[in-house]
This record gives sequence, C-alpha cells and structure tokens, in this order.
Amino acid sequence: MQTDVRPESMQRITTKELADSFIAEQIALVREQVGDKKVLLALSGGVDSSVVAALLIKAIGKQLVCVHVNHGLMRKGESENVIEVFQNQLDANLIYVDATDRFLDLLKGVAEPEKKRKIIGGEFIKVFDEEAAKLTDIKFLAQGTIYPDILESDGVKAHHNVGGLPEEMEMELVEPVKLLYKDEVRVVGSALGLPDEMVYRQPFPGPGLGVRCLGAITRDRLHALREADAILREEFDKCGLAEKVWQYFIAVPDMKSVGVKDSKRYEGWPAIIRAVNTTDAMTATIEEIPYDILHKITNRITNEVDGINRVLLDLTPKPIGTIEWE
Ligand code: XMP
Repeated sequence: MQTDVRPESMQRITTKELADSFIAEQIALVREQVGDKKVLLALSGGVDSSVVAALLIKAIGKQLVCVHVNHGLMRKGESENVIEVFQNQLDANLIYVDATDRFLDLLKGVAEPEKKRKIIGGEFIKVFDEEAAKLTDIKFLAQGTIYPDILESDGVKAHHNVGGLPEEMEMELVEPVKLLYKDEVRVVGSALGLPDEMVYRQPFPGPGLGVRCLGAITRDRLHALREADAILREEFDKCGLAEKVWQYFIAVPDMKSVGVKDSKRYEGWPAIIRAVNTTDAMTATIEEIPYDILHKITNRITNEVDGINRVLLDLTPKPIGTIEWE
C-alpha cells in the first residue's frame, strides 16, 4: 500500500508505456482495496477527477458511482461534455445533478467575493452529501488528490472534502493519483483514452464562473459571460493560443456603459479578457495577443452576445493583479 510520500526512486511518468504500467499497477491495487464494494466520486470534469474516474471505471466498472454536480457556474458545454464522455462513451454509473437554481438562488444579491466562495463551496458539499445519502452500501470515497495537493495542504481538496460527508458513512479514501504531479496525471489520462480537451483542460476555479461574474451574480450577466467566454475559447483554439496560454477567460463586472447598436443607445456590460502564463500560479505574466485576433474576438463578442457592448484587455501581471478578478 502506498504512503503519502513520493519515494525518491519513483520514476516520472512521461510516456504512454510508463503510464500503461502505472495504470495496470493501480488497477490491481484498487481491486484489492475495494473488492466488490461500491466507490463514490465527485466528478467535476476537471483533469484530476476525470482521470481518477476513467481509471476506476477500468478497474471496477459499475462499482464506481460518479456524481456530477452542475452548480450553474460551469463554462459553456462542460457538464454536457462530462455526460458525453463518461455516460455515453465510457458507460459510467453517473448521477447528474443540475443544482443551478439552488446555487443561483442562494447567491442572489451577494456581492462579496469570499462570501460567494463560501456559499458555493458549502452548497456543493450539501448537494453531494444529499446524493451520497440516497445511495446504500457505499464504503469508499475516491478523490482526485494529486501530489502538489499533499505538499501544499492537508491533502484533501476543499471541494471533495470528506469532512462534509455524513459521518455514519465512514468512507475509506481511494486516491490512485495522489503521488503524481499534474503533467503525469495528464499522461495517464491520455493513456486511458480521455479526449485532449479534458486532459489538457486549463485550470478552472472550483467556484467557476461565480468569481468571474463580478459582484452580485444575475442570470442575464452570467449568461453573457458564458457566451463571451465560449467565443474567447473558440478563437484561441482556432489560432493556436489555446495550447500556448496557461489560463484565459472573460470576467464581466457589474457595471454598464453607453454604446450604440442599430443606431440606438445601447447600455451594456464590458467583457474583460484575461490571458496569463505562469508555472505555479503564484506569479503570472501577460500573453501578448496579436491585434488581429483581439479585433476578431471583440467583433464577435459585441455582435453575438446580448448585453455586452465593449471588450477590454487586462494587461496586469501578477503581482499586482491576481489571476482571477475576485
Ligand atoms: P489567483 O486569482 O489567486 O488565482 O491569482 C491563482 C489560481 O487559482 C485559481 N483560483 C481558484 N481555484 N478555487 C479554486 O479552486 C478558488 O476559489 C480559486 N480562486 C482562484 C485561479 O483560477 C488561478 O488558476
């Protein structure tokens, strides 16, 4: 049984062959650990939980129960993608919970960023607990803990917090990638056949678009943000910036300016583009986006997204600006 310390001698997983042998080893370990019992996993659609899900599906098939909670703050198409890959392609035992209304109702009128984060994190655990309580005979909880999580914190991700689960469930943890670094998790994910868009997904904060729809979230502004963000991602994909830039997104503040549309006064929100490069997210530099691409993105967002009438570019490195706006 592995411990929580990565041995010095452990080889870095860089190739498909090394990933395949890691996968075979973990399949045997997981089968030995869980036997014929059921395992629960919160599947966010992020790299780590997706790789753990694919690995466990290979090891124990339908004994794995995945719960995907859509908090209504996902990017465009993300929950649909989780369903497509895990339910339709990998035939997973997947419970999909659309909790959009619960989250947005709770967040109504809440403008303070840390309060928003607390509400989202707390409600996430509540929804997950409720789903877990409906299931019987679950003895294990799988988590996408990776080695940096262990090095940086107590090894438990806030959003997968076992402490939030009903005590009587007494679940044992299954953490097959806990000794791996992010790049190794990606190699393993590719070897498991997960699509590139999932394996090379850019980091996305747990509170999702909730911290990019600045101030008190409204459904119409959240919708505009999601559509504008989808256009940015599409254009970055087309011009090759998606592979080059570490994190890129749109933030939409809670303010309007005057514009003109169809010869009429048009008040709208600005969409702020943020595109940064970093290795550890502690500091970040600004990606220089060619002007023709910026013009194209501006043109598309202002024409295609209801409610947006300006596009701005954030040129602030970290420090002094954090990567997210709130
Ligand atoms: P900041 O804004 O602090 O972000 O420069 C650094 C990295 O962390 C991500 N981030 C979060 N991730 N929950 C998360 O899971 C959060 O509340 C959160 N806030 C920021 C951010 O996207 C960036 O990659």
